[in-house]
Amino acid sequence: LTSTQPHRTPDPFRDGRSERMFEVSCRQERRYEVHMVDDVFAVDSRLAPLLAKRKTLAVTTPTVWSIYGQRLEALRSALGADLAVFVLEAGEGRKSMDMVLRICELCHEHELGRTDSLLSLGGGVCHDLVTVAASLVRRGIPHVSVPTTLVGQIDAGVGVKGAVNFRGSKSYLGCFAPPAKVLVDPAFLQTAPARTRTDGVAEIVKIGLIADANLIHLLQEPNSLLSCETPSTNRTQMVLWLAIRRILEQLSTNLFEDQTYQRLVDFGHTFSGQVEELSGYEISHGCAVAIDMALSAAISLTLGSLSNTGFQRILTLLKECSLPIYSPLLTVASCQGALRSAARHRGGHPNLVIPHRLGSGGFVTDLAILSDDVLADSIARVRTP
Ligand SMILES: NC(=O)c1ccc[n+]([C@@H]2O[C@H](COP(=O)([O-])OP(=O)(O)OC[C@H]3O[C@@H](n4cnc5c(N)ncnc54)[C@H](O)[C@@H]3O)[C@@H](O)[C@H]2O)c1
Repeated sequence: LTSTQPHRTPDPFRDGRSERMFEVSCRQERRYEVHMVDDVFAVDSRLAPLLAKRKTLAVTTPTVWSIYGQRLEALRSALGADLAVFVLEAGEGRKSMDMVLRICELCHEHELGRTDSLLSLGGGVCHDLVTVAASLVRRGIPHVSVPTTLVGQIDAGVGVKGAVNFRGSKSYLGCFAPPAKVLVDPAFLQTAPARTRTDGVAEIVKIGLIADANLIHLLQEPNSLLSCETPSTNRTQMVLWLAIRRILEQLSTNLFEDQTYQRLVDFGHTFSGQVEELSGYEISHGCAVAIDMALSAAISLTLGSLSNTGFQRILTLLKECSLPIYSPLLTVASCQGALRSAARHRGGHPNLVIPHRLGSGGFVTDLAILSDDVLADSIARVRTP
């Protein structure tokens, strides 16, 4: 049967009410590759096709540019790549929205389109700035990460987060913006400042203490990253790759931090931001993380979740790594402030990560457990261990 009646859409507003709902749901799968590579500036490297295919603005820092600029220039010439370079004054004090906007201005000046790319060639600060800029330009353009410090290679440069400091608050403004690709070349570590090596070791200790005791054992072996001046040996590369894998395993289940607010990788990152801020960024990120790890271990001991032997082992390990275990900036008041700030960041609970034994950790979710007395006792344990 065919109807001769014209099809009429029922008048949705016939009932005189204006409230309506349309639910939009979206799921965006993101994937990216992290490669450990041999010579990132070689013409047959994994970087070459990325530069050859699209216009790129590389962002780097003065020291990195002075050491590696010629090699990047040579690669540009060999490929005939459309590559502009911006050398920015790096440093924690420069991790600001002004710097991000400067990068955005240059993207505009060089007429970068949606498929063109930013490239960060530097440490964690450079990476953080580039990631935020990449998330803003045209609401998001690709960015390739070539981290040149240990922190960059095992943490900042392989993850999806970018951030700037804002109004005195560490990494207060930021974004989640996965990189198009990450290329880790261990050779950069040979020239990275010693301070960045120590900071990176703090992050390796972090991941080892809560996720893989074997990583700690490897780190302590002779010729590992700790003692080795030339981090290109098999042993150092093994530690580096294992640390990267363990971090990525932790990050990848909760990449956008929307699955849970309980993240083991937050170990050492509850009190550390406060310590960095209060020191006027005189205390580096890694050292602040170490101070935080020692205090969190002391809290674990105070709460009966870690043995005294386990606690002493962690302190010894941190000292062996030339990392600090205490700062006078740790007071009950500053720690309570940091815990409240962490709770605002972590869905209403501090979710303080505490080590239970080597290679495993847990969470303190209730602020009430972290009383002034518990904090005072724990601070005393790291002040005079
Ligand atoms: N986004 C994240 O997920 C994340 C994670 C961890 C840390 N971070 C951030 O990373 C920053 C710390 O990064 P960092 O430790 O890499 O220090 P950094 O980026 O401040 O770099 C330190 C100095 O080392 C120089 N440098 C870098 N690589 C070099 C090399 N190969 N040879 C010679 N000089 C080199 C730089 O020019 C700079 O002067 C902090 O701001 C921290 O908040 C971010």
